[in-house]
Amino acid sequence: MGAFTPLAEQTGTSQFDDDHPGARFLADHALQLEVCRGLLALADGLPKTADHNLTQRLLEIFNAAWLGHVRFQDEVICPLLKRRHGGGQWECAALFDRQHSEIRFANDELVETLRVAVSSGAASDTLAYLLRHVSERRRDHIEAEHVLLLPVLREALAPIERKTYLEWAAANPLPFAGLALDS
Ligand SMILES: [Fe+2]
Repeated sequence: MGAFTPLAEQTGTSQFDDDHPGARFLADHALQLEVCRGLLALADGLPKTADHNLTQRLLEIFNAAWLGHVRFQDEVICPLLKRRHGGGQWECAALFDRQHSEIRFANDELVETLRVAVSSGAASDTLAYLLRHVSERRRDHIEAEHVLLLPVLREALAPIERKTYLEWAAANPLPFAGLALDS
C-alpha cells in the first residue's frame, strides 16, 4: 500500500502532541508492526532454529497488544470518527470491526499452535504458515487504518474531546510502549 509511511519514518516525525489521540494511534500502530516483525522473524527461523526467547515474548505480548488496539479503537477512535462523520456514514467501521474479530480468531489459533510447539519441542508446518498469516493480516489491517483514519485524526480536536481522551489514556496506558523484540 503505497500511501503507508514506514514505521521508522512515523516514529521520528509524529505530527501530534502527546495529549492528542493521534499520538497514541501512531504509537499503537508502531507496536502492532513490531509484533508483526517478531512473528515473521520467528517464522524465518523455523523449523530448525526456533527462537525460544522470541517465542515466549510473543506469547506474552501479541494477544495483549491486540486487545489494547481494539479497545483503543472501540472506545476512542470510533466515537471520535462518528462525531465527525455521523454513525451511518462511517462505512469503514463495520469493515474494521469484522477484521478485529477475524484477527482475534487467528491470534487464538496461533497461540494454541505455539504452545503445542513449545511443549512438544517441535514446530509444525502449520506453525510457520500461521505465523506468516497472522502477521500479514495484522499488518494489512494496520496499513489500511493508517491510510483511512489518519487524515480524519488530523482534523481539529475540540477541548472536551482532548479532555475525554486524556482521562481514558490515564486509565488505559499503552501496553508494551516502545517495544523492541530484538533488544
Ligand atoms: Fe484496528
